[in-house]
Amino acid sequence: MRLTMVGTGYVGLVTGTCFANTGNDVTCLDVDPAKIKTLEDGGCPIYEPGLTDLIEKNVKAERLTFTLDKEKAYRDAEMIFICVGTPTGKMEGDADLSYVMGAADDIGKVLKELGPNQEPKVIVVKSTVPVGTSHAVRDRIREIAGPSIPFSIADNPEFLKEGAAIQDFNYPDRVVCGVEDERAAELMKEIYAPYVRSGNPIFIMDVRSAEMVKYASNNFLATKISFINEMAALCEAYGADVGKVREGMCADSRIGSQFLYPGLGYGGSCFPKDTLACMAMGRNSDTDTQLSTAVHDVNQRQRTRFFQKIHDQFDGDLAGKKLAFWGMAFKPNTDDIREAPALTIMQLCKDAGATCVGYDPVAAENVAKDHPGLCEVCEDVYDTLEGADALVISTDWDDFKHPDFGRMKTLMNVPAIFDGRNLYALALMEREGFVYHSVGRRAVTPGAVTA
Ligand SMILES: NC(=O)c1ccc[n+]([C@@H]2O[C@H](COP(=O)([O-])OP(=O)(O)OC[C@H]3O[C@@H](n4cnc5c(N)ncnc54)[C@H](O)[C@@H]3O)[C@@H](O)[C@H]2O)c1
Repeated sequence: MRLTMVGTGYVGLVTGTCFANTGNDVTCLDVDPAKIKTLEDGGCPIYEPGLTDLIEKNVKAERLTFTLDKEKAYRDAEMIFICVGTPTGKMEGDADLSYVMGAADDIGKVLKELGPNQEPKVIVVKSTVPVGTSHAVRDRIREIAGPSIPFSIADNPEFLKEGAAIQDFNYPDRVVCGVEDERAAELMKEIYAPYVRSGNPIFIMDVRSAEMVKYASNNFLATKISFINEMAALCEAYGADVGKVREGMCADSRIGSQFLYPGLGYGGSCFPKDTLACMAMGRNSDTDTQLSTAVHDVNQRQRTRFFQKIHDQFDGDLAGKKLAFWGMAFKPNTDDIREAPALTIMQLCKDAGATCVGYDPVAAENVAKDHPGLCEVCEDVYDTLEGADALVISTDWDDFKHPDFGRMKTLMNVPAIFDGRNLYALALMEREGFVYHSVGRRAVTPGAVTA
């Protein structure tokens, strides 16, 4: 099938490449000339494991092309997937739909030029959008193209995770398609057939429900994270160990163990904005969304609580202190730094007078580019520790799981670790002689008598 992806970000580029890999003829369109140039030169504008090789393979097979030319991208496509960003807008958490509606405008113009005798295209909204948006896209295209132009609208939320995006796309737990006509349903089933061969379901439903599935899923996962972080705070207050509490709790098959790791709270380009968008949908419809509001508040507080631990360690005086940060991406295996907790905590430390030095295996370049002056970026993980008054572990990259503690102590001014990801056993930290603060567990202070 001839497909066009609108937007070559994490979703559009992965989706387009994976669809090309099953034999479709895919055009990836973007408005960012730098991204298209990188792709045309054989590079990849984002870090996603396995993606560069898969792009190369499909470009060679002449099934995958990149363009800035909207007219060309839209004209020949049988299905158009809108995969542009829907960040938080300026209005109290409402999703900014300007990119989605911008794409609708472009598509409407091309459809108008093609006239009433064209084969009807299916326009698929893949971006995460508030309920009703796909219908607004349909109405905008209709308004621009005119009433005699045939096309149909669909909503197909994406559930891939950055860092495991190709695996998630190729082996989805489920595929959700919101459609308004039988033909769109059949085309969606056809295009996804290679990905649901092992019996994983493809759900065909109405457009509004499909849009809501995505928010309900992300909001639920965000709720689990805020829940365990709230329990972690209680563990700290009452001397329990959240690691043990987790084990005891997660053995219950009704509860399960995923997304129940205490830490610095969720970040990234989805959970924060999608929780806010749910709250905005509630506000806009006079529907109470107390739970979403609490989930968001707990998440924001998690960052300031952790900063407070650092602040308290230095008796409230961070002026002139040097803090090393390991990990700046919002989670491991991605270079995405949107809403990354590390950056919020760095900013709080910097505002309190500290200087920050950061290392990340793949996200450092983005930090230097998008947040100049926030921290000094190091290329080697141990270089961050020279003369450091404390280490903050902010992303649980594998690289940080078994460091050379002896070397760390010789480099650091003070052997203190603030571990936002609970990477190390308390007994190990005691043996190594570190001051050690983590999440939901007692603090380790060398010399102090512990129970
Ligand atoms: N990132 C994820 O892990 C993830 C997972 C599931 C769903 N989503 C959702 O998918 C959507 C896209 O997310 P993303 O992370 O891929 O975004 P992104 O910001 O990485 O990429 C969006 C791309 O769209 C391009 N663009 C904007 N307007 C355009 C236009 N008119 N024509 C062509 N290109 C245009 C931008 O230049 C950019 O390259 C969002 O709604 C997001 O919530 C993201």
